Amino acid sequence: MRMTQTAEVFDELDFLQNEVRQVGQAIEQVMASFLPFDDTKDQPLYDAMAYACLTGGKRLRPFLLCSVARLYNVPSGESLHAGAALEFIHCSSLIHDDLPCMDDSDLRRGQPSCHVQFSEAIALLAGDALISLAFEVLSHPNTHTSAEKRCVLMRMLSQVAGPRGIMQGQALDILGGNRTDTLEGLIDVHNLKTGSMIEFACEAGALLGGASSRDLKLFKKFGTKVGLIYQITDDLLDTVGYQDQMGKPVLQDIRLDKANFVTHLGLEGVRSYAADLRQEAVDILHQMGFKHSPLPHLIDLIRSRQN
Ligand code: IPE
Ligand code: IPE
Ligand code: MG
Ligand code: MG
Ligand code: MG
Repeated sequence: MRMTQTAEVFDELDFLQNEVRQVGQAIEQVMASFLPFDDTKDQPLYDAMAYACLTGGKRLRPFLLCSVARLYNVPSGESLHAGAALEFIHCSSLIHDDLPCMDDSDLRRGQPSCHVQFSEAIALLAGDALISLAFEVLSHPNTHTSAEKRCVLMRMLSQVAGPRGIMQGQALDILGGNRTDTLEGLIDVHNLKTGSMIEFACEAGALLGGASSRDLKLFKKFGTKVGLIYQITDDLLDTVGYQDQMGKPVLQDIRLDKANFVTHLGLEGVRSYAADLRQEAVDILHQMGFKHSPLPHLIDLIRSRQN
């Protein structure tokens, strides 16, 4: 019985992996359609934007957005634009995160980081340019037929990308001093720098699906749990993962003398904390009546990833 259940879980994760790949390709097509390609001229800025967005990346944030929207019967083609906008913000955050003034990391998605491949100046500008492109995408009629909903999405994403979201999280991550000395402080920083994007994925997917305001709030809460699981897994892989699989350097947090979930809780503590968060996330889904959704499997995929 146990073996059958285990085999079923593996089948489910395989199926999901395949779906992530397919949705990821569709997301890339939308992203590519907004990138200002110009083959005829030497355009390092455009090349750097495409390099940072179209080469690699698991696309788990837009996949989560599309998966939540699908619970409300939104066809995946109709949530790709919002997903692409979110992925532009994520890619811009990675360009900036790798800069010498931030984490000073020279490898990303298995290739030289954007500033190594181009230059610091071009990488900085490419990261900035991707942020503005994200809002261009959200304002596009293909994001949603209702201009009001597009406007709400833009407000939500601007809060995520701005001083009450990623920027503040990254600032505290770099210069937070003793802020991350306590687990509560670390959770705050991780919620801001990583959780805010995952919360957006969940809330935006529900918004596209016409969810009630109660469900919108609950999906945001669900996103907070999944966001923590996301960063916990990243912290875990920073400690026990392999550079070849991850496509980015490992032991970065130790090198930069940063507290992370592993330094606070230890390896076993981290795993059991992630398991508790998964249960809390599933409870929220049940509260909304989603008893048989693929989202718990997606959480398992996030937890079991090796890259
Ligand atoms: C890396 O995110 C940064 C974190 C917040 C953990 P991902 O692991 O989703 O990176 P890509 O997009 O797949 O490269
Ligand atoms: C990155 O966190 C968070 C953002 C880019 C917003 P990390 O610094 O832990 O991500 P990696 O490990 O470099 O991918
Ligand atoms: Mg960082
Ligand atoms: Mg980093
Ligand atoms: Mg990390």
